[in-house]
Amino acid sequence: MGQLVVVSNRIALPVNGKSSAGGLAVGILDALKKYGGLWFGWNGEIAEISGEEEPVTLISHEGISYASFSLNQNDYDLYYSQYSNTVIWPAFHYRLDLVDYQRTAWEGYCRVNKLLAERLTPLLNDDDIVWAHDYHLLPFAAELRKAGKNPPIGFFLHIPFPAPDVFNVLPDHKIILEMLCSYDLLGFQTENDKHAFLSSLSKVTELSTTEEGRYQAFGRTFSVACYPIGIEPDSIQRIASGPLPPKMVAIREELGDAKNIIACERLDYSKGLPERFLAYEALLEHYPHHRGHIRYTQIAPTSRGEVQAYQKIRHKLETEAGRINGKYGTLSWTPLYYLNQHFDRRLLMKIFRLTDIALITPLRDGMNLVAKEYVAAQDPENPGVLILSRFAGAACELTSALIVNPYDRGEVAAAIDQAMTMPLSERIERYQQMMAVLTHQTIDRWRDVFLQDLRSLAV
Ligand code: G6P
Repeated sequence: MGQLVVVSNRIALPVNGKSSAGGLAVGILDALKKYGGLWFGWNGEIAEISGEEEPVTLISHEGISYASFSLNQNDYDLYYSQYSNTVIWPAFHYRLDLVDYQRTAWEGYCRVNKLLAERLTPLLNDDDIVWAHDYHLLPFAAELRKAGKNPPIGFFLHIPFPAPDVFNVLPDHKIILEMLCSYDLLGFQTENDKHAFLSSLSKVTELSTTEEGRYQAFGRTFSVACYPIGIEPDSIQRIASGPLPPKMVAIREELGDAKNIIACERLDYSKGLPERFLAYEALLEHYPHHRGHIRYTQIAPTSRGEVQAYQKIRHKLETEAGRINGKYGTLSWTPLYYLNQHFDRRLLMKIFRLTDIALITPLRDGMNLVAKEYVAAQDPENPGVLILSRFAGAACELTSALIVNPYDRGEVAAAIDQAMTMPLSERIERYQQMMAVLTHQTIDRWRDVFLQDLRSLAV
C-alpha cells in the first residue's frame, strides 16, 4: 500500500516552523501521527528573492516526512492574502461585503496551485494516495492531473460551503466547481455544506448519480460525503488534568471565586468577537447582580494581519474592550481581559479546565475544534458549561451545549446567566452527552473513514 500524502497550504513543521493556531494544522498532525506519511505545503515563510523557484525542503520527524517551501512575495500576496483570504474566506463565511475581487488574484491563485502540483509530482510514488485540505487548494487535483499524475485524490473542506446564491456571486464559481469535480472524493464538515455544494453544482451543470451513489458532472465521476472533524478526547483529558505549571497555580489563585468565562480563537471577523463583547456588555447591563462576580478572558492571537479586514477588527476589539472595562470596571474588578497573544495549546487545555464557561459564538464556522476541546478538557465531576453558536459546524453534534444565535445579544446574555447558575447535575448530564459524541467521532475516526472511502475508490 502506498503512502498517504497530505497537502495543505500551511503545514506545522516540528522545528522552526511558523505554525498557526487554526484547527486544520492540529487536525492533520493528529491524523498523520498514527500511520505516518508525507505532509506537503508552505512553511509560513516569505522568500527574500521574489520570482525564484523555491526549493522544497524535506525533513523527517517521528514517522512523518515534511516537504515544505517558502512562497515568494508575489505568490503570497495574490494566492494567499488576496484570493484565498480576501475572496474565498469571506465569501464562504457569508461576508460578501468583505470580498475584494481582482482577476489578477484569481490568476495568481491558479498559478500557485499549478506550481504546487508540479512541485509535488516528483515526490509521488505510483501507489500513493493524495489528500488535499481546504480552500487554498480548490484547483489542486485538476492541476495534478494536468501534470500527468492520476492517484486517488481526496479533498476535505474545513470551512463552510456557502449556499448557492452566495457562492454564485464569485465570478469564477463555475470553473471552481468544475475543478472540484477533478477530485475523486470530496468531504465536508456537515450535511448542510455537502448539500450546498451539490446544489451549487446542479445549478451550473447536469448532475447525475450512479447506482453506487457516486456523482457525475463535467465528465467526471466522484463521491461526496460528510466527515465531521473530531479531536483526541483522551489525550486532551490527560493534558488538562495533569499537574499545573507554577505560573498557572498563581493564575488559579487569581481567578478566585469569580465565575470565569473563556474564549479562544484566531482574531477573525468570522468568529463573532465584537458581537460577543456586546453580548457580555448586555449581561453586565441587564443582570447587574453578576457584576464583580464574573470575569471574561478573550484570547485572540492576530491572524492574517496584512489583510485590511483583519486590521479593522483588531482595532474594533481593542476599542470595545477598553470601553466596556471603562464603563463597568471598578478599582478592584476588571470585567474583560482581552489578550491579543498566542498561547501554547497544552497550557490552553489546562486553562479550559479551570474555567466555568466557554463562550464560542462564531457567526459562521466550519466546525470549531475549540468547542470540542473545551468539553474534553473539563473535570468530569465538576464540568464547565459550553455556550455555542448555532452557526458553528460543531453545533450539529454538540446539541447538549447551550446553543445560541450569536446575532442576538439578549439571547447570548441570557445563556451566560443560565450557565452561571446551572446546577451541577445538569452540567454533568450535558457534559456526558457531549463526551459520548466526542469519544465516538474522534480525529482517528475522521481520518480512518475518509481514507477508507478514498482507498476504496482506488481498487
Ligand atoms: C483556518 C483554516 C485553515 C488555516 C487556519 C489558519 O482554520 O481553515 O486552512 O490554516 O485557519 O489560518 P492561516 O491563514 O494562518 O493559515
